[in-house]
Amino acid sequence: MTAPIIRIRSVGPAHASPLAELHSRAFAETGQADWSAASIAATLATPATTARLADVINGVALRDQTSSGFIICRFAGDTAEILTLCVDPKYQRLGLGSALIHSLASIFIGETGALYLEVAATNAKAISFYEKHGFSVQGRRPNYYETTTGRTDAILMARPFAQH
Ligand SMILES: CC(C)(COP(=O)(O)OP(=O)(O)OC[C@H]1O[C@@H](n2cnc3c(N)ncnc32)[C@H](O)[C@@H]1OP(=O)(O)O)[C@@H](O)C(=O)NCCC(=O)NCCS
Repeated sequence: MTAPIIRIRSVGPAHASPLAELHSRAFAETGQADWSAASIAATLATPATTARLADVINGVALRDQTSSGFIICRFAGDTAEILTLCVDPKYQRLGLGSALIHSLASIFIGETGALYLEVAATNAKAISFYEKHGFSVQGRRPNYYETTTGRTDAILMARPFAQH
């Protein structure tokens, strides 16, 4: 695929169903549990929570767009947590995940806090992705995730809001 044109937009609870479908497709390879539309809707209805959706626009017409990835982030004081980030397997390694991370930057202008996340220790691809984006390992929660191949640890990663 040639380099995609990516549009990022904010979405809310009304988008929960397509987000749940996308989450299921993206996380299938990790063996982690699906996130239901009801649970995503409830998460997006809570204060200080934001979701950004990435659309790949294949032609000039917006009707040709395909929703291909999303990120959900929650703020608490001077920290924020990435609750999930995923890209449809068909569109991975084309820069969508990076575009979604960068889209948070406009929220963090002038902020001095840190951005946190948890990722399965077996998810080498995601750990590599986050390291590329300046995250470093801060800790480990043993047996935190249940997957189709058994329990696995969670790796806690963090980086300052601002990246230079
Ligand atoms: C992690 C994820 C969001 C990355 O999205 P993406 O759109 O493919 O990422 P980008 O194209 O913006 O960035 C690619 C970078 O990520 C890393 N990466 C992506 N796929 C990789 C792979 N198969 N092996 C190693 N590194 C990989 C590399 O650093 C890569 O940079 P490079 O292409 O210059 O080498 C995506 O793989 C995904 O949705 N995975 C399934 C769900 C998941 O694990 N989410 C995160 C858990 S919290």
